[in-house]
Amino acid sequence: MTHPTRRQTLALAAAAAAATALSPSALAQQAAPFKVGLILPLTGPFTATGRQMEAGARLYLAQHGGTVAGRRVELIVKDDGGVADNTRRVAQELITGDKVDVLAGFGLTPLALSVSQLITQAKVPAVVMSAATSSIVNASPYFVRTSLTLPQSATAMAEWASKNKIKRAVTLVSDYGPGLDAEKYFKNRFLLNGGEVLAELRVPVRNPDFSPFLQRVRDANPEALFVFVPAGQGVAVMKQFAERGLDKTGIKLIGDGSFTDDDILNDMGDVALGAVTAFNYSAAHESALNKRFVSEFIKAHKVRPAFMGVGAYDGMRVITKALEATKGKGGGDALLEGMKGQVFESPRGMMTIDAQTRDVVQDIYIRRVERRNGELWNIEIDSSKQMKDPGKQG
Ligand code: PHB
Repeated sequence: MTHPTRRQTLALAAAAAAATALSPSALAQQAAPFKVGLILPLTGPFTATGRQMEAGARLYLAQHGGTVAGRRVELIVKDDGGVADNTRRVAQELITGDKVDVLAGFGLTPLALSVSQLITQAKVPAVVMSAATSSIVNASPYFVRTSLTLPQSATAMAEWASKNKIKRAVTLVSDYGPGLDAEKYFKNRFLLNGGEVLAELRVPVRNPDFSPFLQRVRDANPEALFVFVPAGQGVAVMKQFAERGLDKTGIKLIGDGSFTDDDILNDMGDVALGAVTAFNYSAAHESALNKRFVSEFIKAHKVRPAFMGVGAYDGMRVITKALEATKGKGGGDALLEGMKGQVFESPRGMMTIDAQTRDVVQDIYIRRVERRNGELWNIEIDSSKQMKDPGKQG
């Protein structure tokens, strides 16, 4: 065997460098990958939420290419089972072990809140793609949100109810952060408009049995029942509403759009027809971008996209554009700056990451469940334009 001379070795090295210089993807492989730690509930009662989010994040990267400013974007997906202690432990491992550049995900409010101190200390931005309690982004200056806030949907819902001559309502909410926001902000606006809340019912978030609460709704006999339950639980509410014959009483169903979320809407049947909800996203939204999003999402995931899928899709937009703004350098504070103030078209419509609050500004749509071509859809009938979070306005 002959050893190459020093000159030959140098020539080979130069040729190799020239070859890689020609190809951006080869360059991206040389640069350290940009790591996004995506923490999702992929087991337990909120599995569908986690799957939606993973599908949304992956679809964004598939459509836009997985390399940004010369760096390959690597998703490190972890399951927290919907349990906050797991979220915090996994986040710690991702920060210190994997050295992720950004955290993202957060299917429910307690899961997001569990990492607030961690991300502040480590100066790692965390993009909240689903959880919707107003106060989350106040818990750390490193939180940025792409989902929605309950004060946005609940306030818009109350406004519509009053405009449509509903005067007496009962609220039924999940007894934790977003439910309490929903109850408070619906009531505040509804009372301001001259309405009356006859009863405020709170249901446990884990293993809820809605029947005793629905009996109390029947007894109070309101014109409308306002509902907040986290994504996935709406089917059970609808089923028990019908089983108890409340669909024959004329009590109108209204609520936050998680109640009639798109991925479960067709499981609800006719009882859902006519329900009116306020939300940031409908799969029926009329735009070219949304049509393409819905068809590619269904092709990849077999299920209609819901707001968590869109929140994750847009979250990846916010993250990768921030990386671009740093010219691939990254760094917690620089990425955070790059996320603030982004304005762009989402499948939901135009949205902004408010540079002051790091929360989402967006249209909130009033939608009515209707049957079109044999399927149920949330058809947009009205909207509040570019709404800021009412939870942050004094
Ligand atoms: C939340 O926990 O913040 C949450 C979860 C599911 C929703 C809305 C909010 O549909």
